[in-house]
Amino acid sequence: MSLYLTEVTKLQNLAKKLRKKNLSDFFKKDSSRYADYHVKYLGISLDFSKNFIDKKVKSIFLNSSFTKRINKKIDDLINGLNVNLTEDRKVGHFWLRQRKTKTNIEKYVSLVKTEEAKFLKFAEDIRSGVRKGFSNESFTDVVSVGIGGSDLGPLMVNEALSNIHDGKINLHFVSNIDQNYLDSIIRKLDPKKTLVVVISKTFTTLETIENAKYLKKWLEKSSKGVSVDPNFVAITTNPSESEKFGIQKSQTFIFWDWVGGRYSLFSAVGLPIALGYGANIFLELKKGAGDYDQILSEKKLENNPSFWHAVVSIWNLNFLNLSSLAVIPYSSLLSRFPAFLQQTWMESNGKSVDVDGRKSKLKNSPIVFGEPGTNSQHSFFQMIQQGNQTIPVDFILIKKNTDKNEVFHDHLIANALAQSMTMMLGKDVKLLKKEAIPNNLLKYKVMPGNRPSNILWIDSLDPWHIGQLISFYEISIMIQGFILNINSFDQFGVELGKKNALEIFNKIKGNSDTKLDQSTEENIKYFNRN
Ligand code: F6P
Repeated sequence: MSLYLTEVTKLQNLAKKLRKKNLSDFFKKDSSRYADYHVKYLGISLDFSKNFIDKKVKSIFLNSSFTKRINKKIDDLINGLNVNLTEDRKVGHFWLRQRKTKTNIEKYVSLVKTEEAKFLKFAEDIRSGVRKGFSNESFTDVVSVGIGGSDLGPLMVNEALSNIHDGKINLHFVSNIDQNYLDSIIRKLDPKKTLVVVISKTFTTLETIENAKYLKKWLEKSSKGVSVDPNFVAITTNPSESEKFGIQKSQTFIFWDWVGGRYSLFSAVGLPIALGYGANIFLELKKGAGDYDQILSEKKLENNPSFWHAVVSIWNLNFLNLSSLAVIPYSSLLSRFPAFLQQTWMESNGKSVDVDGRKSKLKNSPIVFGEPGTNSQHSFFQMIQQGNQTIPVDFILIKKNTDKNEVFHDHLIANALAQSMTMMLGKDVKLLKKEAIPNNLLKYKVMPGNRPSNILWIDSLDPWHIGQLISFYEISIMIQGFILNINSFDQFGVELGKKNALEIFNKIKGNSDTKLDQSTEENIKYFNRN
């Protein structure tokens, strides 16, 4: 199921025409433009009016055969068909936050409920001191060890919620295989009061296993021969592997192969959040995602903010040839959200063949990057506003003013809206002349404008809305995958790099005489030279 050739041809012809227009002209000719290109669902509101699309583009994506195909794909996924064709797996991350169970997925939802009750009780027992460490002291710190989807979700949420952290259990995140960084974290911690949570879907990821081994030694140095088992937890789909590592089954919480790593936050992978904030906050976060998911069963794609976000993304990428996307949360507490979204989006849709193995005719993912605003205004917005490559932006704004000093939040919102407005309007020579800009500077000061952006509001920076924000993007990325007819749920592209790294590691250690390419060989020599 993809865009039919006829639809692609029509969209290409429309793009040629629309790209020549001034974005601001769309509003001059249509006083209801904002109303017609703005969709709200629960606490998520998307204004996609500052894009080069018109009613004809919308109608192509909204035509009944097209929307029927998308809704069918959504139904197949939610109802447990093996939509992840290349791995012959179901895609069940929505079931983690599902409340109403349909018969054919009942067994999955009950697995989720059982395991969730276990890990949430464990979290509360740690927080209350019912469960203590190997020295029989209550825990004060958690070191969460994992990488990619086994790290980015809990890390991002911990930062986003830091204002409501009660200080009982402090969370620390270790992901890279970088001893300097790892030492910088544990140097401040008391091993007797530190719980190490090792998160790994496969429990074979080199970085995570090496970090876990290092932390086990760190614990054992203080345990005076007492078993450190009470201070070690595993979260995995591969409990036999974690048991081989030496983590007790009673300290192991599982999830399943039908939950992709980048979609696993609402499984036991979210244990660090339950440890740091309590079960109720984890459940509130999950409720947000589950409540937003309901939009899928409403089947009205025209009222679905994620559908229009998906349409705009595919339109910008393929019909306006805009290859990147800047995601700019105007909240420093969401500073890790772009990194979280990079994996969710680029590991899902960063593919080059469709579900049938045929080379994709369309581009499948933008290059996603981002930093918070207003910081990014003082770093790369020069290029966004005046560079010679147009970069669309998703501006993420928080509506509720939670800070004591009203002026801060008002400035944040004013800056976000100003950047989006400036991207659209720019400032031409005629206007600059009215400002008496010296003639010799005019050409340097022209602001091209006509640069598209989305304004995405979340009503408040709280667990429920953060859960909705996660679901909003997950559903947009999934719908893009359906429209592009790719498999958004495998990630074969990560395997060869890992294999080559082991080969080079063995060369560095002098344990392999495999001949590698000249550059790699020379660089290994350079590294090994004293
Ligand atoms: O290498 C990519 C990847 O497999 C991601 O998909 C995953 O989230 C991450 O590595 C960590 O994998 P694991 O959870 O199995 O340690």
